[in-house]
Amino acid sequence: MAYECNNFFVSSRAVRILVFLTLIGSCIVQVNCLNISFPSFKPEDRNVLNFSANSYIAFGALQVTPDVNGASNTSGRVLYGQPFRLSNGLLKTSFISSFVFNIQPQTSPTGEGLAFILTESPPLPENSGGQWIGIINSSTTGSSNIVAVEFDTRKSFPEDLDDNHVGIDVRSTVSIAQASLNDKGLNLSGGYDIRATLFYDAQLAEIDIVVYRGEHRAESPVLSHPLDLYEFFRGDIYVGFSASTGVNATQLNCVKSWNFTSYEKSVQISDKTSFNHLWIWLMVSVSVVTLLILVILFIRYKKRSHKRRLMEADDSEVELKILNSSTAPQKFRLKELRFATENFNSMNKLGKGGFGTVYKGVLGDNNVVAVKRISKNSSHGKKDFIAEVTSIGNLHHKNLVKLIGWCYESNELLLVYEFMPNGSLDKFIFRNETAESEDDKTLTWGRRHNIIIGVAQALDYLHNGCQNRVLHRDIKASNILMDLEFNARLGDFGLARVVQLNENTHHSTKEIAGTPGYMAPESFHTGRATVETDIYAFGILMLEIMCGRRPGHRCEANGYCNSIVDWVWENYRINSLASVVDSRINEDADMEQIKNLLMLALSCCHPNPYERPPMNAALQVLSGEAEPPEVAVEKPAFMWPVFGPLREVGCSLSGAQFTASAVLSGR
Ligand SMILES: *[C@@H]1O[C@H](CO)[C@@H](O)[C@H](O)[C@H]1NC(C)=O
Ligand SMILES: *[C@@H]1O[C@H](CO)[C@@H](O)[C@H](O)[C@H]1NC(C)=O
Ligand SMILES: *[C@@H]1O[C@H](CO)[C@@H](O)[C@H](O)[C@H]1NC(C)=O
Ligand SMILES: *[C@@H]1O[C@H](CO)[C@@H](O)[C@H](O)[C@H]1NC(C)=O
Repeated sequence: MAYECNNFFVSSRAVRILVFLTLIGSCIVQVNCLNISFPSFKPEDRNVLNFSANSYIAFGALQVTPDVNGASNTSGRVLYGQPFRLSNGLLKTSFISSFVFNIQPQTSPTGEGLAFILTESPPLPENSGGQWIGIINSSTTGSSNIVAVEFDTRKSFPEDLDDNHVGIDVRSTVSIAQASLNDKGLNLSGGYDIRATLFYDAQLAEIDIVVYRGEHRAESPVLSHPLDLYEFFRGDIYVGFSASTGVNATQLNCVKSWNFTSYEKSVQISDKTSFNHLWIWLMVSVSVVTLLILVILFIRYKKRSHKRRLMEADDSEVELKILNSSTAPQKFRLKELRFATENFNSMNKLGKGGFGTVYKGVLGDNNVVAVKRISKNSSHGKKDFIAEVTSIGNLHHKNLVKLIGWCYESNELLLVYEFMPNGSLDKFIFRNETAESEDDKTLTWGRRHNIIIGVAQALDYLHNGCQNRVLHRDIKASNILMDLEFNARLGDFGLARVVQLNENTHHSTKEIAGTPGYMAPESFHTGRATVETDIYAFGILMLEIMCGRRPGHRCEANGYCNSIVDWVWENYRINSLASVVDSRINEDADMEQIKNLLMLALSCCHPNPYERPPMNAALQVLSGEAEPPEVAVEKPAFMWPVFGPLREVGCSLSGAQFTASAVLSGR
């Protein structure tokens, strides 16, 4: 489709120019977005921030007022250097601002407070110390165009609730709405880190303020109040912080990290004056181009074959299926998930996979979940997404990561899984690779054995246990997650495909995919994922767990090179299998059992797919019910085409064929 469109654009010069102009237009639109991320403050960050005379960066934080004793009756401001706008003339801008601050009292009582501010005029007003919190001074009250969320540590106006409250200030330090933190168990002047997240929603014209301490996200905002910022700000505005100390009542006001994300919401701006010529021109050109594209697409669509139309009908049918199926996981709103993950804040990132990024999120009552945000440029299309939701949503096994819900909105594809506190297996088995590599003793042989059995049970369930056969297609250490008791949970069904069990052909799916090092040799020829390629990857995973090594593609001093299979097989040939076992496995582990499992792993990695044991047979070996398969001392060579009977031949001709087809069907 994209190719055809390109062709069309190239052939028509006028349209090319229009597209070009539209692109310029959309660049202008982009300028209104502001994204700020300071996980901490480094000295070089001073170049992108504006400081008032008394403010600076020290100890990895913004010191909004000086961090020295006796800085009495003073104020300060730190603002981000780039301004932004609350609308682009067409859409209104919403934002989420999340920061960690720390107020250290130096006197008792302490004073005065810290505020997050949005303002048209960046300079710090003179004489804005004391009760003015650097927001305004006595003469600019009511006239300075500024909106602030104050964290007030002093009752300095009769209107102030107490000396520990959050307030929303509009052109004044007498708040339009305020909430005390005393009944929330929070003390602003407690000297500890406090995290605040402000959600400004332009569509609802509302601000929600969430304040909490430590890891546990507060369940609900401390303060929600109607606020239409667009009423106050039409031009450039600056965002940042201000703070002040009082006379003989001082504190250190610092901000330790800050994330700010703005995004446009399709709120129509009714105010006609904001439409200048540029926007009218832009809208006209956008509509002309859109119309042209629509006409072309319509013509092409009409030409599409009947088959195509059937497929599309099928698509929406699947979508309806998700919505109607009673077993389907919960559907979430994008807004809920943005809130849960603090707008996909990088501080909540758990990991990055082939298809997107996974964030930690908190839903409602401290219900911690993992949210997978499928990246827009991944090949994971809507169809795959729906397939994943319908197929995986119906799978229930104690060794599979449970899919809780999904969201498909505004071009965002999101999946919500249960949260696995111990993270992924690769963190534990490969040593010295990541800084946060875990304690060597964590993975005892008992736990490793249990993990292998868990993965095998999950795979047996996928291959043989459920209504439709599911191929996982991407079994690897980083896709094995662990719950609190270190039970394995197979996750990331990003590549999973459902295969109808009643299909008469091979149980395979086309499209070559997977992770190098885990891919069976035949898949490079067939380009197919099969039950046997899953078993191969499982064999590799077993070897990794027992040897504590990556599958290959990297040479080491001791001659371990390229393939973990070759290396283990060679050590088996020269009868030194004990040397491949991870030295961190305790000595009192059952060596006989380890050897049996190594044999099983090698047979799962047999170059000939028909020789690999099905998962249910592997499980019998794992539980000790069956002897491990015989493994040739020399690794057999990979032959192409693979020798093995065709499944369609049937199973009555000979015993050998019976076995082979049993392997194929996995029964
Ligand atoms: C308030 O601040 C403005 C701007 O800095 C300044 O011109 C004015 O003099 C200040 N007012 C008082 C009372 O200090
Ligand atoms: C505090 O500062 C204000 C101006 O910022 C000044 O007018 C006032 O006299 C100061 N008070 C004391 C006690 O220093
Ligand atoms: C808050 O902390 C400060 C300093 O530790 C203390 O003086 C004050 O009493 C505390 N306030 C409350 C309400 O606990
Ligand atoms: C502030 O402290 C100084 C020195 O201790 C004292 O002289 C002054 O009166 C105090 N000011 C106020 C307003 O308490």
